[in-house]
Amino acid sequence: MSTVIDDILGTSSVSSSLAERDRRYVARPTTRIPVAVEGGEGAYLIDADGRRLLDLTSGWNVANTGWNHPRVIAALAAQASQMPFAPPWCTHDGRSRVAERLNELLGGGYKALCGATGSEAVEAALKVARRATGRQAVVGFTQAYHGGTLGAMQAGGVPELQGIDVPATEYHRHVPIPDALRAQGRDYASLVRESLRATPEPAAILLESVFTNPGVISGDDAFYRAVQEGAREVGALVIVDEVGTGFGRTGRDFGYQHRGLDPDIVVVAKALTSGAVPMAGALIRDELASAVAGPGFSSTFGWTPIACAAALASLDVIRDEGLTERAAVLGERAIERLSPLVAEVQAVADVRGLGLELGIEFTDAEGRPFARPPMENLTSRLLRRGIFAEPSAYTSTLLLMPPLVISDEQWMGALDAIAEEILDMDRAGEWK
Ligand SMILES: Cc1ncc(COP(=O)(O)O)c(C=O)c1O
Repeated sequence: MSTVIDDILGTSSVSSSLAERDRRYVARPTTRIPVAVEGGEGAYLIDADGRRLLDLTSGWNVANTGWNHPRVIAALAAQASQMPFAPPWCTHDGRSRVAERLNELLGGGYKALCGATGSEAVEAALKVARRATGRQAVVGFTQAYHGGTLGAMQAGGVPELQGIDVPATEYHRHVPIPDALRAQGRDYASLVRESLRATPEPAAILLESVFTNPGVISGDDAFYRAVQEGAREVGALVIVDEVGTGFGRTGRDFGYQHRGLDPDIVVVAKALTSGAVPMAGALIRDELASAVAGPGFSSTFGWTPIACAAALASLDVIRDEGLTERAAVLGERAIERLSPLVAEVQAVADVRGLGLELGIEFTDAEGRPFARPPMENLTSRLLRRGIFAEPSAYTSTLLLMPPLVISDEQWMGALDAIAEEILDMDRAGEWK
């Protein structure tokens, strides 16, 4: 495993035989393989050559408690030896306990609809909304990603997924995401209200408390008020996708709690088990529970005993180690440390985020997103310094979403390194 190949920019740690085998036998949406991972320790990923990389992705907001928290691993091992799986039509202690714990975090009044992946839970939320309202239409947002299943792709607004992969539907409407940097006088709050009013019989509006995939983009208070009040006015349910922003990531239990939203359905996944076992849920208001009927709502791997054991351990770790509060504090430090770059480097357009859900957006002299080269140059420079970070898909934004267990020293060291590399690229004329 010692042959390191230059997969993209000379920094890949993927051994050549592994990369060849992967390319030969695995169907992947991208040919880029920046790292082959073999292990994890706290906020570090360990690659196939034994190199320790400080991870600033959490595997896209999954490893909130770190990559191998001993309490999560112990809970998994104990449940594996007792009973990892149970018949889904039976119940077990772990399932009701997790549902109770999540209900407490939401302030009460919700029931859990159990699934395995974020996409599945988004689908479940849409099905409940349609059954409960007797309507079809969903108002979503441009560039929002809610999963790779057909319903989630239709409701989300990822441009290249519309039309070919996803059959167009007259039932969906996509409102622009509240992108302050490109607003050009647009009033996003009014746009949401108008779209809700103009959509015939909307069943629901589907949004994230921070739109992660487009590059950590959030609206202002007026925007979220317009979502909530506009939905109530036309009888649409509010579905908040907290798949990426849940479990302390933004400095609150769930991101929507910053926004004054009062959602009818909250979708959770990813960090619920710290990534140990797939587990997801649509948390629906008690009064919507009668909409859950029939075979369309069952899930063989929804909330298995082993997943629930991992979830309970993760929730305990987040509470006992104060990880949510930590995310809030470390996020503020990052904004403080990195914001001066906006004035210092022309290519740095914005530093933004909430808790440890952060992004640095880069634009060219005309204010347009950069193509891949300068972003990959930046991420490869960081990899050489032992830091693993990745850009977002639609804007050239470097996403910073480390495990919430990252230490003060690791975090501040990473921020210094990022600032140094951005400045160095600027001096070398590489932002173009
Ligand atoms: C906001 C959001 N919703 C839903 C999903 C889909 O989750 P999964 O990949 O577990 O199906 C994702 C995945 O990245 C996501 O980021």
